[in-house]
Amino acid sequence: MAKTPILDALMEMVRQLRVPLHVPGHKQGRMLPAELAAWLGQAGRLDLTELPGLDNLHQPEECILHSQRLAAEYYGSQHCFYSVNGSSAAVMAAICSVAAGRKILLAGPFHQSAWRGIVLADAEPVILPTSFHRALHRPNPPAVADVAAELAKHPDCAAVFVTSPNYQGAVADVAALADVCHRAGVPLVVDEAHGAHFGLIPELPPHSVAAGADVVIHSAHKMLPALTQTAWVHVTGPRVDAETLQRWLLTFQTTSPSYLLLASLDAAQAWLRSDGPRAAAEALAVVRDAGIVVAGQTGVDPLRHWLPTSGLSESLAVQAALADAGIQVEMADGQGVLAVFGFGIRPREAERYMEIVRQTVSEVPPEAREDEAAWSLPALAPDFACRPRAAYGQAMAWVPLAEAEGRTAGVMVTPYPPGTPLIVPGQRLDAAAVATLRALLAQHVHIHGMRGDRVGVLCHSGAATG
Ligand SMILES: Cc1ncc(COP(=O)(O)O)c(C=O)c1O
Repeated sequence: MAKTPILDALMEMVRQLRVPLHVPGHKQGRMLPAELAAWLGQAGRLDLTELPGLDNLHQPEECILHSQRLAAEYYGSQHCFYSVNGSSAAVMAAICSVAAGRKILLAGPFHQSAWRGIVLADAEPVILPTSFHRALHRPNPPAVADVAAELAKHPDCAAVFVTSPNYQGAVADVAALADVCHRAGVPLVVDEAHGAHFGLIPELPPHSVAAGADVVIHSAHKMLPALTQTAWVHVTGPRVDAETLQRWLLTFQTTSPSYLLLASLDAAQAWLRSDGPRAAAEALAVVRDAGIVVAGQTGVDPLRHWLPTSGLSESLAVQAALADAGIQVEMADGQGVLAVFGFGIRPREAERYMEIVRQTVSEVPPEAREDEAAWSLPALAPDFACRPRAAYGQAMAWVPLAEAEGRTAGVMVTPYPPGTPLIVPGQRLDAAAVATLRALLAQHVHIHGMRGDRVGVLCHSGAATG
């Protein structure tokens, strides 16, 4: 049996059954409202706090430290720190620890937490525009040559940040990227939020710790059997100070971390060793047998399926047909449909998915059009009127798109999912940006950072140079 120090300590505490004269106020589940208690069952009893014997996330010395070390040992990193505030906190902490007050190269699409990290770190972003795969309708991971060229142009960059796999499952050549970064003397941070399962078996892509990245962030909850909000971050090698990163991570975490979440992280690290390899082999067999993934396919996560479509109406038709059969996908947008298979899907479920997909989509989706605004925008390097931190917290006005061109964005504008910002605060809104937002609104995409057709702009963008 793989070791689970946090879970063991927690269960021992519950077995001792003391009278709970401590927080939380639901008193080990006794006082939870009935309907919730019925759903939570025994879990209410495990929702404890930092009692003697349960260690403390803010100064781990016992079961939490032990569990983090087990996770680090599994991946081969030097340090692993747990987050009960998802990869969001880990991404922000990583950026603050490597680029405070300095330049950082962000290559390819990135999650909004990276932008928040830039603001908190008062870093200066250098953005490598994202290229798109026109036949597959998805962003490409950053090309190694492009990252090398950008680093050569900006030798004062303190670090490089990449996301791999991206939301659609495309995987970057992290080993080559790490090599380029290390030759330039800077650390590579990989947001591998969607790839905590990588490396479980040789048929899956290797994880980025093995590929040589200095900091690797995993949302345990996204692909491993772990509760929502759970994540961990690995630090390896001499280029990043692990203590600094841990301090930042704790800055973004509650002082009352949920022990259910900590126990879930603990159980997830044990699962990787115990049931993980078998579950991975079974899951791969299921997606292969159903024709979802073809043998020999590389550069993608085989446990998620990105299906390019001819446009939003086809994506919605696929989503609806699947929903009618009781199948819920992760996302459907103007470019395609994303299904996250992960572990535990049964053969019949995967076969049914494929039957419906085959019945609903056109054989070959058309190439993305040149004028597809939502595609072209991330391919441009944004023009900044001021440093992101200077744009944050300034007086803002919400103006209709018709009046937005030439103004400076005051908010992040992010289609959701996947949460990849298209526009970031401090960016000048040019004609392409406004056209993109119009196109997305016309497609009824759910957009965070807009109010109807209004976008937040700085009232005094001229004064906001920083
Ligand atoms: C690439 C990427 N990084 C980071 C995050 C944040 O992860 P979490 O939800 O664990 O905070 C997400 C969330 O969707 C993401 O897609």
